[in-house]
Amino acid sequence: MLADPIQIGSLKLNNRIVKASMVENMATEQGEVTDRLIRFYQRQAKGGAGLLITGGAYVQKNGRSVTYLIGAYDDSLVEGLGALANAVHENGGKIALQIYHCGRQTRPELAEGDVVGPSAIPDQMTKVMPRPMTEDEIEETIQAFGLAARRVKEAGYDGVEVMAGHGYLISQFLSRRTNQRTDQWGGSLENRARFLFSVIERVRSEIGPDFPLLVKHNTEDRLKNGLTVEESAWVAQRLPEYGADTIKLSGGTAESALNISRGELPAEEILEEFSGWQRFKNKMLIRAMKNKFKFSEAYFLENVKQIKPQISVPVTLVGGLRTPEVMEQILKDGHADLIAIGRPLVRDPYLPQKILSGDPSPASCLNCNRCAIRIAQQRPLRCYASEKTNDEEGDS
Ligand SMILES: Cc1cc2nc3c(=O)[nH]c(=O)nc-3n(C[C@H](O)[C@H](O)[C@H](O)COP(=O)(O)O)c2cc1C
Repeated sequence: MLADPIQIGSLKLNNRIVKASMVENMATEQGEVTDRLIRFYQRQAKGGAGLLITGGAYVQKNGRSVTYLIGAYDDSLVEGLGALANAVHENGGKIALQIYHCGRQTRPELAEGDVVGPSAIPDQMTKVMPRPMTEDEIEETIQAFGLAARRVKEAGYDGVEVMAGHGYLISQFLSRRTNQRTDQWGGSLENRARFLFSVIERVRSEIGPDFPLLVKHNTEDRLKNGLTVEESAWVAQRLPEYGADTIKLSGGTAESALNISRGELPAEEILEEFSGWQRFKNKMLIRAMKNKFKFSEAYFLENVKQIKPQISVPVTLVGGLRTPEVMEQILKDGHADLIAIGRPLVRDPYLPQKILSGDPSPASCLNCNRCAIRIAQQRPLRCYASEKTNDEEGDS
């Protein structure tokens, strides 16, 4: 099953393993593609996944949450984006670029311009307070998503993925917790989903009817007043009407800490940044959170079981997929059509090849989340677990 081809809109994939989107933090400060980024994706392409999805590329300059993200906000970036797509194609892979806007889920010094969001509600983890977007700004951001998607097509990618989950701007609009607007963009679920549907509609009109359009969506936020499974299903069911060819189901937001990437909280690495009272306070906080985000295989499967029957296009499951036998069973039972893998492919880009050749070994990723913490500390994506890994780029 994992080795079976699948059709997503006009895109034919050779197998059902997808490299999940992960921030690489390897572009220039202006978001230009670098040689290091190209080398990273050459390895990923050789690794054998049917489709690679890049980390989120920002569509507007105030939409960036990490310093060295890929940019898709300007036509001048198309050439570099094209070089990355070519490198993947030359190594036998297929690649979609993920486009996103962080909204309030950022550090204020990274957003060129104001930090914006649907409403003036601070993030409980970071205390960042956004300025509510005006209706004109909402329209500009919808347009920015459309233009970014057109650039992705021009650059020769095999598809574009719109990031609608994990607490970023679109997800902020969807959630009652972060969207308390009283205009057409807030209130009822229909109104809260208007921003996402408008983005998808605009992207589709910019890329034409045949270019593959992927959406990453939360099954739930796992936060008080956040998006619920029932609300998520209502949204997911309607996405194909607006032009989505496939939906990847995940969950959590940065405010709900490690619900997105369950596993360990790497205390030592987190505490490195703090001293004195702050260090002590954070140490206690980490201790209190210990085991709260315990890893279990396929941790969004139960949510997906509820939502998938209502979706008319292929569905990808992401989050804690580690064992080939479990992945095969999920496909066999019809709970998902594709399997996306994130952290384990950073540790071992050749994992898909091994799985597809019949190796039953589970991924060697420790779910230590050192990769996530290092990204938050503005370091490049690699496996930071202490043991030797298959990451050829070495330390940096
Ligand atoms: C370091 C890191 C960076 C990530 N960056 C992104 C991103 O840019 N876009 C996105 O949709 N998900 C991102 N994710 C979430 C992953 O795509 C994935 O949903 C999550 O890691 C769970 O899958 P896994 O258990 O296979 O790692 C990131 C996760 C990590 C650990």
